[in-house]
Amino acid sequence: MYGRLERNQALLQAILAGVRGLDKAGYAVCAPYPYLAQAQSVLAGSNVAWGAQNLNPHEEGAYTGEVAPGMLVDFGCTYAIIGHSERRGLFHESNEIVSAKFDAALKAGMKPILCVGETLEERESGITEQVVGTQLDAVLNRAGAQALGKAVIAYEPVWAIGTGKTATPEQAQAVHAFIRQRVAQHDSQVALSLCILYGGSVKAANAAELFGMPDIDGGLIGGASLVAEEFVAICRAAQN
Ligand code: PGA
Repeated sequence: MYGRLERNQALLQAILAGVRGLDKAGYAVCAPYPYLAQAQSVLAGSNVAWGAQNLNPHEEGAYTGEVAPGMLVDFGCTYAIIGHSERRGLFHESNEIVSAKFDAALKAGMKPILCVGETLEERESGITEQVVGTQLDAVLNRAGAQALGKAVIAYEPVWAIGTGKTATPEQAQAVHAFIRQRVAQHDSQVALSLCILYGGSVKAANAAELFGMPDIDGGLIGGASLVAEEFVAICRAAQN
């Protein structure tokens, strides 16, 4: 929940200029709902896609204040972030709700960016794989492995989001490999081509090292995306 009309305009234009010609990776900006039209008007026709940070899984109905998947498609959204840890934590989104949202995003023709990750307490209790496995299984059981192949997964350890504490490349790699293996149990082809992003205090200074790991395919960037030079430097690291 950052950004205002004027600031966004400068940010989007700087990002656009910065990633022009970087064609070896994919880039997207996920904006708050009121600014999707702005993202669409600035980014249309460029190599930067855009998307939303949440959605309501119903097609339409008496859900005052909510936003349906089709509404996002009306504004050209390619992506929707699903199950971000702040949604799970602050807004009590269960694995069941997250998987319903995942399904709804796909059915509307968008690519869900499914966020999974453990809290510090869970990591310290040694149940990271159990937690991430359960989060993945909820979606695998409802939507299937093929559906996951049309999505993007973001591993975001909750303790690393917005805290300045990044998982080490080795810590992140271990969980990414676990996620790929888990999906491979259902469909080995999907697992091979699955795009798994790392998120949690990614910045220009640590991006290259993280993206260099074999199972880390890119990043989901929070705070650093609000500073164009930082974000563009991270995009360049992805490109390289
Ligand atoms: P951060 O946020 O990059 O600021 O840690 C990541 C996120 O919110 O997904």
